[in-house]
Amino acid sequence: MTNSSDSNSQPSSNKSFEIENQQPIRILGIETSCDETAAAVVENGRVILSNLVASQADLHAQYGGVFPEVASRQHILTIYPIIEQSLQEAHLTISELDAIAVTRGPGLPGSLAVGINTAKGLSLGSRLPLIGINHLEAHIYSIWLYQEGQNEFDEPQYPLLTLIVSGGHTELVLMTGHLKYKRLGGTLDDAAGEAFDKISRLLGLSYPGGPSIEKAAQVGNPQAFNFPRAWLDNTWNFSFSGLKTAVLREVRRLETGGTPLPIANLAASFQAAVVDVLVEKTLLAAKEFQAKEILIAGGVSANKLLRQTIEQKAEGLIHIPPINLCTDNAAMVAGAGFFRYINGQRDPLDIDVLPNWPISEL
Ligand code: KG4
Ligand code: ZN
Repeated sequence: MTNSSDSNSQPSSNKSFEIENQQPIRILGIETSCDETAAAVVENGRVILSNLVASQADLHAQYGGVFPEVASRQHILTIYPIIEQSLQEAHLTISELDAIAVTRGPGLPGSLAVGINTAKGLSLGSRLPLIGINHLEAHIYSIWLYQEGQNEFDEPQYPLLTLIVSGGHTELVLMTGHLKYKRLGGTLDDAAGEAFDKISRLLGLSYPGGPSIEKAAQVGNPQAFNFPRAWLDNTWNFSFSGLKTAVLREVRRLETGGTPLPIANLAASFQAAVVDVLVEKTLLAAKEFQAKEILIAGGVSANKLLRQTIEQKAEGLIHIPPINLCTDNAAMVAGAGFFRYINGQRDPLDIDVLPNWPISEL
């Protein structure tokens, strides 16, 4: 993570979020929105005591993408063992925790239902409060986390320009304080990660597509193909469908010509087009809204070209989580859960999943 080492910078913690009693608050996080079954324990929204992720990627690879019913059933098999292990690794029993935070949406309805029902059962049995968490907010709070034993670093300062780039979302959000969001724009069609996954499948690479494209692109020329960039000027929206069609057309043209596909060049040129748009629009928005710092989170923020490019071009401080916290995990759910907990959120046991829960509704 890029972060401040400037000892003069003021921690921007909001006074109302200071913990009144000095007892640490420990929250169990549960995440099952897509194809990762995850459980974690986090202290005071920042210190990771345990963080376990069981990825189903191998299971879905044969379908070239997430098969929702297979995902739900695999969550059912994995969820309790992974929660038990997360408690064991944190050296805590459930009665020593303060709350249970669980992803309520957005995500696949059947997958979300497994996590939320598990959390309800644990809450009922243990009397711990239940806190439903928005997955996009959780990605944002991945920036606050650090491993037990590591040095604490300053929290980001507001206004904070946030780019959430994942398999389901590409969202530009201005964060003005803890739990306070203004959605500026988002993708009109495919999410950035979805575009990576679809182009990966087109090129015959394995699922998930982001890491496969990134690997193939390492030996490719990003200027080999001049793929389109949809700037959508005067808006904070994105579109990746034109880029996807352009790559598809190029692949068909090359195939018709009978030449072997230059996979590395196609992957590198595609990746460069996505990164260009993400970086330029994020920097423009940061300037326009006078953001003090920039935060990038979500699965696509694991991409090295994206990380390097924005770090080179941005003038201020950039926060990007370490790779293992970019993709779906439960530590970020527990982290967001802490800030919701101290803000007084307690959810009843009859809450439903919210598969299309926009951050603008928070
Ligand atoms: O945040 P995430 O784990 O799940 C969702 O909330 O969707 O993001 C998964 C997405 C996938 O589309 C995956 O291909 C993409 O993140 N991704 C990457 C990289 N690692 C994962 N995209 C580009 N480069 C990567 N290194
Ligand atoms: Zn995610």
